Amino acid sequence: MNKVYITRKLPEAALAIIKQQCEVTIWDKEDTPVPREVLQEQLKNADGLLCLLTERIDEQLLEAAPNLKVISNMAVGYNNIDVEAATKRSIAVTNTPGVLTETTADLTFALLLATSRRLIEASNYLRDGQWKTWSPMQLTGQDIFGATLGIIGMGRIGESVAKRAKGFDMKLLYYNRSRKLEAEQAYDMTYADMDTLLSQSDFIVVLTPYSPDTVNLIDREQFARMKNTSVLINTARGGIVNEDALYDALTGGQIWAAGLDVFETEPLDPNHRLLTLPNVVAMPHIGSASIKTRTQMAILAAENLVRGVSGERPVHLVNPEINIY
Ligand code: GLV
Ligand code: GLV
Repeated sequence: MNKVYITRKLPEAALAIIKQQCEVTIWDKEDTPVPREVLQEQLKNADGLLCLLTERIDEQLLEAAPNLKVISNMAVGYNNIDVEAATKRSIAVTNTPGVLTETTADLTFALLLATSRRLIEASNYLRDGQWKTWSPMQLTGQDIFGATLGIIGMGRIGESVAKRAKGFDMKLLYYNRSRKLEAEQAYDMTYADMDTLLSQSDFIVVLTPYSPDTVNLIDREQFARMKNTSVLINTARGGIVNEDALYDALTGGQIWAAGLDVFETEPLDPNHRLLTLPNVVAMPHIGSASIKTRTQMAILAAENLVRGVSGERPVHLVNPEINIY
C-alpha cells in the first residue's frame, strides 16, 4: 500500500476514501500546524502528502522526500507550495477549486455588507451600552444598492460575486489579465483598466490569486486613486494588499473602510494596528468555512491524493507540465 501523510485531522468522509487505498499517518495531536521537523521526517517515506495552506512546502522539504508523487493541497490557492520545485521532480500538485466558489462569494458579500453598514461596530455599540437614543445620523454607512463594484480578478469567485451584485442593482467593473466576454455579457460588466476601476468604484473586491505579479498589487499609488468613500474587500490572499499602505489609507481618510479575510501574516497578531480601527472588519480566513464546503474540499483533496499516489492523473492538477500521465 502507498504511504501517505496528512497534516491535520480531516472529516471522516475524506479519511475513509484515503484509508481504503493507502497506509495513513496523520498529524492529529492538536489542531495546530505540524512542526516542520516532524513533516520533514514523515516525508522521508511518504508517497503522497495531503496538506493545508498552513504548511510551507518548499524545495528543502521536497529534497528530503524521495518517494513523493503528489502534494494535495486542501485549498484552491497554492501559494504555500513551491510548484516549480515540485514540477522539477515530477511531483503532482493539486488543489480544490470549484466547490468553494459560492461559499467564498457569500463571505465576500458578507464583508461588503458588514463594512458598508458598519455591522460589527454597531453591534459592539449596542453591547457596550452606548445605545441611548435613535438619532438621525447615528452609525450611518454607505449604500450598496446602485453603487459601483470593481472586481479585481475575474475567476470563478469573481463571477459569483458579480452574480450577487446584480441582485443589488450594482454597476459592475472588472479587471483581469484577460477579458471574460461571456461573464461580461452574463452580468452586464464593463472591463476597465486598473486606474479606471480604482477611481470609479465605490466598492473594490480583490480576488486574484497570489503570485509574484500580484504582491502589493494594491499599494500607496492605488489607494491614492480610490474615492475617499470607497470600501476595499480582500478575500483572496494577504500580501496582495500592502497592509502598511492600507493602514495609512484608512487613517488618512483616503478610503472609508476595509473588509479583510486574509493577511500578510496568518494568524494575524491580535494586537495588529489594523485591528485598532473601527472601520476594519477582519475575519480569521473563513472564506470557504461552511460545513458542507469544507467537507467537500477535504473529499476532493482526498480524491486528488489517492489518484496521485496510484499514478492516475488527478482531476485538479495544478502543474500539468509534469507530463507523466
Ligand atoms: C483558501 O483560502 C483557499 O485557497 O482555499
Ligand atoms: C477560484 O476558484 C477562482 O478562480 O476565483
